[in-house]
Amino acid sequence: MLYMMMRINFKTFVLLVIVGILSSVFTSWNNCSSSFFIRNRDWESQFRHKEHLNNDPDYQEIDCLINGRKIITCRKEGNEVFIPFSFIHKYFEIYGKIVINDGLERFDWYHSYSKITDRKVKYDSRGVFMTFENYNVEVRERVKCISGVDGIPISTQWESQGYYYPTQIAQFGLSHYSKNLTEPESVTKIIEDADKVKQDWTVPQGCIMSRIYDEQVNSYVMKYATPESSSSGISIKIDHVSKLMLKLDLCIRNNGSITIELEIREKKDIYYLHYVTNNLVLHAYNNHIYYGIGQAYNHWKRLTRDLLIDLQKGLNLINKAKKKLSKSKLKVVRVILNGLGMIDNITLATSEHMEQFYDAARWFVANQNITSGGWSNPVKRKVANGMAILEPGWYSSMGQGHAISVLSRAYYHSGDEKYLQTAVRALRPFRILSNNGGILTYFLDKYVWYEEYPTTPSSFILNGFIYSLIGLYDLKSIASGKDAEEAKKLFDQGMNSLKNMLTLFDTGSGTTYDLRHFTLKIAPNLARWDYHSTHVNQLLLLNTIDNDPIFGTTSERWIDYMSGKKASHN
Ligand SMILES: *[C@@H]1O[C@H](CO)[C@@H](O)[C@H](O)[C@H]1NC(C)=O
Ligand SMILES: *[C@@H]1O[C@H](CO)[C@@H](O)[C@H](O)[C@H]1NC(C)=O
Ligand SMILES: *[C@@H]1O[C@H](CO)[C@@H](O)[C@H](O)[C@H]1NC(C)=O
Ligand SMILES: *[C@@H]1O[C@H](CO)[C@@H](O)[C@H](O)[C@H]1NC(C)=O
Ligand SMILES: *[C@@H]1O[C@H](CO)[C@@H](O)[C@H](O)[C@H]1NC(C)=O
Repeated sequence: MLYMMMRINFKTFVLLVIVGILSSVFTSWNNCSSSFFIRNRDWESQFRHKEHLNNDPDYQEIDCLINGRKIITCRKEGNEVFIPFSFIHKYFEIYGKIVINDGLERFDWYHSYSKITDRKVKYDSRGVFMTFENYNVEVRERVKCISGVDGIPISTQWESQGYYYPTQIAQFGLSHYSKNLTEPESVTKIIEDADKVKQDWTVPQGCIMSRIYDEQVNSYVMKYATPESSSSGISIKIDHVSKLMLKLDLCIRNNGSITIELEIREKKDIYYLHYVTNNLVLHAYNNHIYYGIGQAYNHWKRLTRDLLIDLQKGLNLINKAKKKLSKSKLKVVRVILNGLGMIDNITLATSEHMEQFYDAARWFVANQNITSGGWSNPVKRKVANGMAILEPGWYSSMGQGHAISVLSRAYYHSGDEKYLQTAVRALRPFRILSNNGGILTYFLDKYVWYEEYPTTPSSFILNGFIYSLIGLYDLKSIASGKDAEEAKKLFDQGMNSLKNMLTLFDTGSGTTYDLRHFTLKIAPNLARWDYHSTHVNQLLLLNTIDNDPIFGTTSERWIDYMSGKKASHN
């Protein structure tokens, strides 16, 4: 998963009061769940006091011996000792930065770099998926690009060549579904629909263009042909800014391409995005970027492209510099058609979330193993030393669960049974042991667990397990009859395990990512703050659909850990 990390300037040499402040901060945080910022009067007045004194420095340098092992230089002022924050940052893993507030400098201190989104409204399987409206799967660095053939992300996380990673594809789908429900309405501009909106295309000698009625789709469409020798193609200049989601219906009869000419304003750089009839994923040289959209096909197909992402991923390939492009700097200059085919409904819009959601949903329908119900992960994976390597082809409870969440929503939204049937089949690996090609394992032979990675010995990864439960909940809520019953049975078993095992993940100051410290008898694998906050967000969600107090009390305690509170000791 991907998270945003707060970038903090640690180099700043900031002096903070040690003992006095540390203890007052840690002992007076009773209300921390309600607010990330704590205003502490004692602390504030001491801070102001120092600020005043710092204008007229009155301190001495003093050596500070750390645990009898290492000396750092600190400062002494009266009876108070000040430790460099760069040291505090490393030692306590505390984050801090200087900010300007009302024209005054202030030092902001964070125990954790992650945030919690507590919606408090009951989770709805037809609605936003957890906090995924904030996800931007396609911009992640480990996403090579969006496939021209399928319109879904290609991952490079565990294999640099790129592969389809079901969990990531589902997150892409769920984020767009969630954005559809939370973002402002899209603004669409029709470029050409061969009917109400017609453009004056430039048709060079030897090329043909006409608008005809196609009975198959019950619509006027644009038919075009360019000779292979012609390089300029049929084109239209549009000079459009701000709407960068391209959508069009295409029926290609012969090898050809759709080219979008883009300009990065200010720099006046021109780039060409070529969508071509081949199976090359992504190819780029100079200012030309190519996405394969599959072999010429003699039927209508919809193409939805995020031009900003397509350009960005191409540029990443050309110059490894990876400078981030901004939407506002991009202009769509021209559309150019080459080859032989028909085209219709060319639009530019500010967003196309549902199209992107359905690209993901359709992929899950088309790529499921009908026998096993799984979507295989085509990469090797080593989860931990001491665990057997997973060979390509393994299934993941998180991938299965996320896919079920996508498919349940697609079924709800479209009413199309194929999504439901695919989701129901996806339950099969939940009943097959992880050492036998499935995702099921048991904790101490007693509690069922659905494994994000079907490792031997078992790993019991918490966040992947809970995501699989949310998937089961979605299907149980949206399906009916026997289908809902099957999902409910798996969900109930999993929830029973979760309630009994949840506190095994509690370290007293944070959480562990998995239970490898139990199954491998090694040091615990502590969850970094973004995974910890995922645990919390998941519990908050479960707390709205199950009234067992364990979710409320545990999430409250885990939120407190994020502002430095710890479990009390004996
Ligand atoms: C703590 O909570 C109490 C009651 O909710 C409130 O009156 C008080 O102002 C809060 N203190 C801080 C520091 O937020
Ligand atoms: C969300 O999808 C609906 C169709 O289900 C569409 O009418 C609406 O405009 C979309 N809104 C956004 C913000 O994408
Ligand atoms: C273009 O859009 C119209 C209106 O939505 C639709 O009826 C038509 O079938 C579409 N054309 C193609 C080729 O899909
Ligand atoms: C398109 O090109 C490929 C590879 O060059 C070729 O095999 C295929 O037959 C061509 N398709 C058409 C419809 O011309
Ligand atoms: C589909 O799953 C079955 C049962 O696990 C397996 O035997 C078969 O090889 C799988 N098919 C593919 C194409 O992976």
